[in-house]
Amino acid sequence: DASDIEKGTYPHYMLKEIDEQPYVMRNIISKYQDENDQIKLDDDIRQAMQEADRIYIIAAGTSYHAGLVGKQLIEKIAEVPVETHIASEFLYNMPLLSENPLFIFISQSGETADSRGVLVNVKQIGHRALTITNVPGSTLSREADYTLHTYAGPEIAVASTKAYTAQMAVLAILAVDTARASGLEMEFNPLQELAIVANAMEALTDKKEELEKVAREYLSVSRSCFFIGRAEDYFVCLEGALKLKEISYIQAEGFAGGELKHGTIALIEEGTPVVGLATQPHVNLNIRGNLQEVEARGASTCIISTDETYQEGDQIVLPRVHDYLTPLVSVIPMQLISYYAALHRDCDVDKPRNLAKSVTVE
Ligand code: G6P
Repeated sequence: DASDIEKGTYPHYMLKEIDEQPYVMRNIISKYQDENDQIKLDDDIRQAMQEADRIYIIAAGTSYHAGLVGKQLIEKIAEVPVETHIASEFLYNMPLLSENPLFIFISQSGETADSRGVLVNVKQIGHRALTITNVPGSTLSREADYTLHTYAGPEIAVASTKAYTAQMAVLAILAVDTARASGLEMEFNPLQELAIVANAMEALTDKKEELEKVAREYLSVSRSCFFIGRAEDYFVCLEGALKLKEISYIQAEGFAGGELKHGTIALIEEGTPVVGLATQPHVNLNIRGNLQEVEARGASTCIISTDETYQEGDQIVLPRVHDYLTPLVSVIPMQLISYYAALHRDCDVDKPRNLAKSVTVE
């Protein structure tokens, strides 16, 4: 309950929760590490992952965005096919299920009615479910067969921040555990790499003044904003756009860079802010091309890159972390830019209009 948790010196819970992310990463490492520095996970979860021929991730909102990254992680690392679905759509647009599916529900609160609707339904037809949640005693946790805890601590601000990065961290650990259990060679050590992520997050949360300036420059008067990226960057763009919409009420859209030209580029006008996420060398040329296309139509671009993809003039350079975990770091500047954009516009950061922290109606 909000009243039990102090904001301390922070003006808003959201800012406090953004700053807590390095600590949350370290907490996750300690909770998922055994005495031999190996991944600690229940055998029954390991077995359920082994037995699944396909995984269906079900979630809503920010948790859905974590699920999109989770699909990539599990497919690339554990080589199991994964589909990620929006909870409120799943029952009405149900895909043909595989023979031995495992359902993974991702939910900060564990109370989202749309997700619960799917859980009840798939349990009824005899399938197994794992819930990844920040609230272990929650409905989705109790009604699923297995639970993984995200250990982010209570999240009070309506806009989710630390729960999202915690969900992705746990998904990476789960993916590697599954890969190892199936005998796949795996050099990627998520526990070690998450420690590097924690430091990278800290480096970014130390750059608040810089990010406040970016928000002021690009977003104090604009009515709309685009976030573009390719591959994993695209999923983080969806989350960046959602954050900005939720708390600043600026109409924002996350877009796959290459898809812009098929319609959306018509919206670009003189001064339209476009945030470009360019963290991946294999798509750097492509996304740079897309950014030039919008610049040529007058857009003001703000480019986030890494030292591997950096080009002169980029506004934000992310500290390097393992490729698999880049989304945990690239979202931090987006969270902070959204926070400051909302602040500059005098919005109620922690309690945005029309939104609830957990939505218990379908
Ligand atoms: C609400 C919140 C979002 C959240 C979504 C899913 O709409 O405002 O921030 O992402 O529910 O919530 P869950 O608790 O299931 O992750």
